Amino acid sequence: MLLKIFIYTLLFKLASLTAGDFTYNGFKGANLSLDGLAALTPNGLLRLTNISKHDQGHAFSSVPLQFKRSSMDTVISFSTVFVFSVVPEYPMYGGHGFAFVLSPSMRLLQTLPSYYLGLFNATNNRDPSNYIFAVEFDTLNNAEVADIDDNHVGIDINSLISNKSASAGFTSDDDGQFKNLRLWSGEPMQVWIEYDGLNMQLNVTLSSLGKPKPKIPLLSSTINLSSIIMDHMYVGFSASTGIAYSYHYILGWSFMMNGKVPELNISSLPQLPQTMTSSKDKTKAISIWLPVSLSVLVLMTVAAARMIMVRKKRFSELLEDWELDFELHRFSYKQLYKATRGFKDEYLLGVGGFGRVYKGVLKDTKVEVAIKRVCHESRQGVREFVAEIVSLGQLQHRNLVPLLGYCRREGELILVYEYMPNRSLDKFLFCEGKSTLSWSRRFWIIKGVASGLLYLHEDWDRVVIHRDVKASNVLLDGDMNGRLGDFGLARLYDHGGVPQTTHLAGTVGYLAPELFRTCRVTTSSDVFAFGVFLLEVACGRRPIDREKADNQEVLIDWVLANWRKGTIMETRDERLGEEYVAEELELVLKLGLLCSHPLPTARPRMRRVTHLLHGDIPLADPLLNQLITKDSTFVKYEGSNAYAMSFTSMSSESLLFSGR
Ligand SMILES: *[C@@H]1O[C@H](CO)[C@@H](O)[C@H](O)[C@H]1NC(C)=O
Ligand SMILES: *[C@@H]1O[C@H](CO)[C@@H](O)[C@H](O)[C@H]1NC(C)=O
Ligand SMILES: *[C@@H]1O[C@H](CO)[C@@H](O)[C@H](O)[C@H]1NC(C)=O
Ligand SMILES: *[C@@H]1O[C@H](CO)[C@@H](O)[C@H](O)[C@H]1NC(C)=O
Ligand SMILES: *[C@@H]1O[C@H](CO)[C@@H](O)[C@H](O)[C@H]1NC(C)=O
Ligand SMILES: *[C@@H]1O[C@H](CO)[C@@H](O)[C@H](O)[C@H]1NC(C)=O
Ligand SMILES: *[C@@H]1O[C@H](CO)[C@@H](O)[C@H](O)[C@H]1NC(C)=O
Repeated sequence: MLLKIFIYTLLFKLASLTAGDFTYNGFKGANLSLDGLAALTPNGLLRLTNISKHDQGHAFSSVPLQFKRSSMDTVISFSTVFVFSVVPEYPMYGGHGFAFVLSPSMRLLQTLPSYYLGLFNATNNRDPSNYIFAVEFDTLNNAEVADIDDNHVGIDINSLISNKSASAGFTSDDDGQFKNLRLWSGEPMQVWIEYDGLNMQLNVTLSSLGKPKPKIPLLSSTINLSSIIMDHMYVGFSASTGIAYSYHYILGWSFMMNGKVPELNISSLPQLPQTMTSSKDKTKAISIWLPVSLSVLVLMTVAAARMIMVRKKRFSELLEDWELDFELHRFSYKQLYKATRGFKDEYLLGVGGFGRVYKGVLKDTKVEVAIKRVCHESRQGVREFVAEIVSLGQLQHRNLVPLLGYCRREGELILVYEYMPNRSLDKFLFCEGKSTLSWSRRFWIIKGVASGLLYLHEDWDRVVIHRDVKASNVLLDGDMNGRLGDFGLARLYDHGGVPQTTHLAGTVGYLAPELFRTCRVTTSSDVFAFGVFLLEVACGRRPIDREKADNQEVLIDWVLANWRKGTIMETRDERLGEEYVAEELELVLKLGLLCSHPLPTARPRMRRVTHLLHGDIPLADPLLNQLITKDSTFVKYEGSNAYAMSFTSMSSESLLFSGR
């Protein structure tokens, strides 16, 4: 008898190992293994992340599933369906996204948050011995991992660089049109992932919750998963946060080996937390307590009042007494709302470091503008900031993007700039294939940006430190002139005044080494970033590129090493072909190195830089030669950049982190 029970339990165990199918309509009592930020809410939602920044969460089914009958065999077909919702903390700016994962272990240790999605770290990304298969639902655009946009689904094999990806959406069965879906809209969405082991076909399909499964998958790919999937794998989810964060929820999940996955029972899925108390209920409550004869009238009044309130709320903004001085530069929120048809996604130009940028057309003047929505957490310092912004609006220079004005709402500052039709320089520099930007155009842009920066540093009545000079902050106007943009970060201080020391802001890869010690921005730290910018334009690559071999990863180090070897010209953008002026190119490369000299005192000032670029004075600086003979008294580049690179999670976005 005992033996029988033993055999039965053994058989049962084996069966659960091989079959392993499950359906969770909500996760109450589910056998999951959670770590990091992941938690089950009391009503049975699986919440992968919360508002903790730079962190991650994993949730795996505790039982491994058998994906192969033997290690040489093909992968058994599988299919899964789940419902998720991504709720960003700020409606304008989502966190990093999440992924459905197959992993040989349910402990994903030593993985990084942010764009690594809690799946990999800087060393094992792309390593074939990861045995990780994932489908990512990514809500930020990270150039480092070749993301296509900030709202996509991708198939990832041992790497965050997707084998195949597509903007989120579905093909409608009715009219065959592709309809976009915004992953981080907060609305629940349903996903089907199906793999046919025999034909090695993988399909990923997405739709809004409650809609039938679209016939045409969003992604369909033929992939031999035999070498990626091991005999036994754990299935689950991984999600991460960065500077920005979203709540990532899974509402229900069903998994099936070798068959068609059962559909979820949508009516029994747990409810997402309510962010607003529904005003519908209030109207109902009022009407019950009133005599029927009056209720119609009251309901009409309530409806009208609600409409006004909604309208008011929609267009509500913050205006305080001190702002009256800045009235001329103030836009009403309604004006901007209309200019962008309600900040519709189709008017989105891109996501910058601190918020989203929209294109708009001002109704009365028909002027095209770029509208940047910047989220900020506290009200402190806003007054100071607005004062700065407005005075920056008085800056007039042909190499600066004109700031037209601002608007303020709760927790949000909106900046209105003149629209630059040719967008930003990095789009031209880092695009695939042949570059459309000739050397003469590049040199022209460089000289323009230098003159813009000189104006900020020395030629205006106050010193303006830009703080975030880089190719993606150089915008191109209708005539392809380079103009420095994004003064959102710039802070002013009077000539001779004490620089701000509260925050360190800028972008990894462009930060002068002394900033990590002092957090004190100076014109000289701007010059450092300008030096990196020069190298970017001449070499046609980003300052830090993890896809490159170790000794080429950091642009400055690589150019410097080549210069020491006497091969500096070999670092030029090879897409230029033979069409470049060697003297100019060499000047730009060497000047780039000099400007990004590790010692602040060794960097030239912008006036000198402009003279050098215009050939008014020759570049024959003894300091340059000191760089060649690797003097140990120098602050080493390698050290500072290794430090910068330890902020791997921060990607190429501008960032702001508290200093002392
Ligand atoms: C969950 O699964 C693990 C691994 O099979 C098992 O040891 C554990 O007892 C299960 N827990 C529950 C509550 O079923
Ligand atoms: C997020 O979740 C983790 C784990 O449940 C918890 O320790 C942490 O306090 C939470 N953070 C916030 C800001 O609620
Ligand atoms: C990355 O993860 C692997 C394990 O997957 C680990 O061996 C390695 O040490 C990690 N690297 C870092 C830098 O944490
Ligand atoms: C795609 O998948 C294969 C494995 O099937 C892998 O070797 C390759 O590096 C992947 N990545 C890309 C970007 O194609
Ligand atoms: C994937 O989609 C294609 C096209 O709709 C379909 O023919 C194929 O059967 C699907 N495969 C799986 C595994 O669902
Ligand atoms: C799939 O990959 C496995 C392992 O690399 C290989 O043995 C098998 O022949 C491949 N199957 C096909 C159909 O190419
Ligand atoms: C779905 O869930 C609802 C509510 O829990 C239940 O009444 C209904 O029978 C379920 N339907 C199916 C097909 O299981």
